[in-house]
Amino acid sequence: MLVKEYIPQIDVDVFNGWGKLKSGKSFEELSSEEKAKVGRLSELCEQFIAADKYVFVTPLWNFSFPPVMKAYMDAVAVAGKTFKYTEQGPVGLLTDKKALHIQARGGIYSEGPAAQMEMGHRYLSVMMQFFGVPSFEGLFVEGHAAMPEKAEEIKEKAISRAKDLAHTF
Ligand SMILES: Cc1cc2nc3c(=O)[nH]c(=O)nc-3n(C[C@H](O)[C@H](O)[C@H](O)COP(=O)(O)O)c2cc1C
Repeated sequence: MLVKEYIPQIDVDVFNGWGKLKSGKSFEELSSEEKAKVGRLSELCEQFIAADKYVFVTPLWNFSFPPVMKAYMDAVAVAGKTFKYTEQGPVGLLTDKKALHIQARGGIYSEGPAAQMEMGHRYLSVMMQFFGVPSFEGLFVEGHAAMPEKAEEIKEKAISRAKDLAHTF
């Protein structure tokens, strides 16, 4: 659960740490803050690469996911690790993975007037394409805040779809 994990943001310590490493300094020469943050970011990226499948579970907050999810994407988007630059442009390196995004959202975004306003699932979709992940699905629990009288039905429908997906994912 990302909110319970240490997910550093890319801040001044991280830039300073990366700068020192680039200029030839050893990891041991970084400050303790730089070591903690740079070390953890690299650990998160290696863990992401080692996984076979990804299940992202997020709530929709102000048309996107909570900030820790963006910090996590920043941790795993590393040139040479999850994608690489080529003369033809960037190429994803996670071509043997599968990903699923389960997203709870109070209103309806899979169709209708708000569809254009959803940026969390769309962002993850772009990142998965960028990393070369060939399969990315969405499972949405949506509309329960806008239509509380249908909340139970909406939840049951999503659980049933989750069970179906579990057979193939
Ligand atoms: C800070 C915050 C922002 C939210 N923003 C939106 C939003 O932009 N659109 C929406 O449909 N629902 C929004 N909601 C409602 C949540 O998407 C909805 O309650 C969802 O069920 C939250 O997931 P959870 O039940 O797993 O906590 C927001 C809720 C919170 C707490």
